Formats: sequence, C-alpha cells, structure tokens
Amino acid sequence: MKKDSKIWVAGRHGLVGSAIIRNLEKDGYTNIINHEKDYKFDSSRQYAYDLRDAEHVYELYKKYDPEYVFLAAAKVGGIGMNNNQSGEMIYNNLLIQTNVINLAHKCDVKKLMFLGSSCIYPKLCPQPIKEEYLLTGELEKTNIGYAVAKIAGLTMCEMYRKQYGSNFISAMPTNLYGYGDNFHLENSHVLPAMIRKFHEAKLANTKMVELWGSGTPKREFLFIDDLAEGLIYLMDNYDEEGIINVGTGEDVSIQELAEIIKKVVGYEGQIMWDASKPDGTPRKLLDVSKINNLGWKAKTSLEDGVKKTYTWFQKNYNDKNTRL
Ligand SMILES: NC(=O)c1ccc[n+]([C@@H]2O[C@H](COP(=O)([O-])OP(=O)(O)OC[C@H]3O[C@@H](n4cnc5c(N)ncnc54)[C@H](OP(=O)(O)O)[C@@H]3O)[C@@H](O)[C@H]2O)c1
Repeated sequence: MKKDSKIWVAGRHGLVGSAIIRNLEKDGYTNIINHEKDYKFDSSRQYAYDLRDAEHVYELYKKYDPEYVFLAAAKVGGIGMNNNQSGEMIYNNLLIQTNVINLAHKCDVKKLMFLGSSCIYPKLCPQPIKEEYLLTGELEKTNIGYAVAKIAGLTMCEMYRKQYGSNFISAMPTNLYGYGDNFHLENSHVLPAMIRKFHEAKLANTKMVELWGSGTPKREFLFIDDLAEGLIYLMDNYDEEGIINVGTGEDVSIQELAEIIKKVVGYEGQIMWDASKPDGTPRKLLDVSKINNLGWKAKTSLEDGVKKTYTWFQKNYNDKNTRL
C-alpha cells in the first residue's frame, strides 16, 4: 500500500476495524475511506451500508473505488452467542463476506484481506495449530454456524485467486482483546467479560465472582493493536493462497487469565468456577512460525495488554457507545 492508496476497512467501528484504522492513521496513511461521512441518517436503515445487501455493497464500491479492502465486518460473539444465535451467525457472516468478496472482484480491488479465526480449526487438533490443520477434523459444536461461514469465506478467497487471479488473502487471528471490545456479560468473549465482572464486583464490594466453565482450558490472547500492526504488515508483505495465523504463540489457562485480570482490576474477593457451563475447546494455541518467518512478531505482554484495556474500560464505562 502507498501512503495515499484508497483503503476501505469494512467494520470500522468494531474491535478489529477501529484498530486497523487507528494503526493506518498512525502509520501515515491519508486516504482511508469513511463511507459514513456523507451518509444522511435514515432511521429505516441499521447501517449506512448494510453489507448483507449486495446493492449497498456495490453502491459503496462504485462510489469510493477502494484499492485495498480489510474485511473486518462480521457477526461475532463468545460461546453464548455462537450457541444461541447460530442461525444469525451463519446467515449474517455468509452474506457479508459473499458480497464484499465477490464485489471486490467485480470492482477490480487490488487486494483484499479476509479474517478467519483460530476458533474455526478442528476442536481437537494437535497443538500448536499449524495452518495446514484446517479442515482435518470435527469442528467445535458450539460455534459450527460461525465456523462454516468463515471456512466458506476463506475458501472463496482461494477460489477467486485460482479462477480470476484475485489477490485475496486470509488471516487467522487468535482470541483478541483491547480498546472498544464488547463487554457484554453473555455475548462477549471471555477476557472482556471477566474485566467487567471483576470491575463491577470491586465497585459493589462483592465477596465472590462466579466464572463460566472449569477454568482449565488454555487460550492465547493477542492485544488488538498488535493484531492491527500484523494485518497491515500482511497487506504489504503476504500475497499467497494459503491462510496465515496471527497470534502470540503463547497461551495461559483461563484460571491464570482470571488471576491476571483480578490483580490488574484490584479485586480482592474470591473466584468460583461454574463447571456446569461449557468449556469449549480444551486448548487453542496457534503456531505462528509462518508469520514470524515473514518478519512479524507480537510485542505486547498479556499483563500490559490487560492494563491498557482496563484503563480504557474505566474511562469509557459510562459512555453510551461502550458495548456493555
Ligand atoms: N474478536 C476476536 O477475538 C476475533 C478473533 C479472531 C477473528 N476475529 C475476526 O475479526 C473480524 C472482526 O471482529 P471484531 O471482533 O472486530 O467484531 P466486532 O467488534 O463485532 O466488529 C464487527 C463490525 O462489523 C459490523 N457489522 C456487522 N454486521 C454488519 C452489516 N450487516 N453491515 C455493516 N456492518 C456490519 C459491526 O457493526 P455493529 O456492531 O453496529 O453491528 C461491527 O462494527 C471478524 O471477521 C472476526 O471473525 C475476531
């Protein structure tokens, strides 16, 4: 990308999209499309451009003519949402990605990046997870709708490359966290949900915090600005067919994570584990040697990332735009 290339980040208000924009701006990119700037508010529309609607997406491509597209718009949630809204997960994600990818091809976009996720690898695949393990075993049942949609998206990028020569790539981020995350107690991911629980327990002076599952599964967490930096690096340095993992290459148990968050928040009560709630995949750690060999490595430690996120959360706790 040149500093004045036209770049469209789909999902600009999301955790990932906002971090990509923040990092592009920091790196001096001057031509980032803001497709909401000249949109006149229409109460019948949920989005300025609803990416589930091919006509909206076509209109957007024609109007702004992006050269580079980061596809960070999606319907995303934690175990609860994946399980309870599985129909919406598959429907929304299939439509969004099909429209954005297909019309990128039709409108001659130079390069597009699609985002998969570490949670779409087989439930019990060997650890750490190499890119070639995708589709080698049974998927995790709780997020099958989301996973099948994501697998369709990255396959679509590969097939468009094969048939039309499109430079469409797919990155596989691990679990993410950071500024602007979703802190809803049931529909969010484990790390932001824990930050909120410990924070509110500290404010209310509660003696005990109950957390989902046994606490034994191990997970990897990547700070959002590290991810954004990695994705921009891939946009500039990776032009191949295969998917590529983006993570830290290090994992912690959910219990260890809870202890870190408890300490950062300054909560002094007890933790109780509700083992009747589902744990999900026992371990999920990405093998990041491919991206490391390409020249990129994550730099923020988990404790530092949690501190930054908690500082942001405290500042924005009462803001109406914070997803609580
Ligand atoms: N978060 C993670 O831990 C994680 C891990 C691995 C991969 N990823 C991938 O990263 C990508 C972004 O995830 P995220 O965590 O940034 O999710 P997010 O915070 O929920 O952001 C997604 C964005 O997409 C927008 N969006 C959803 N439906 C739309 C539609 N029909 N039209 C227009 N915009 C729409 C959302 O707007 P509204 O909020 O207004 O609906 C939101 O701004 C996804 O592809 C996800 O699979 C995320």
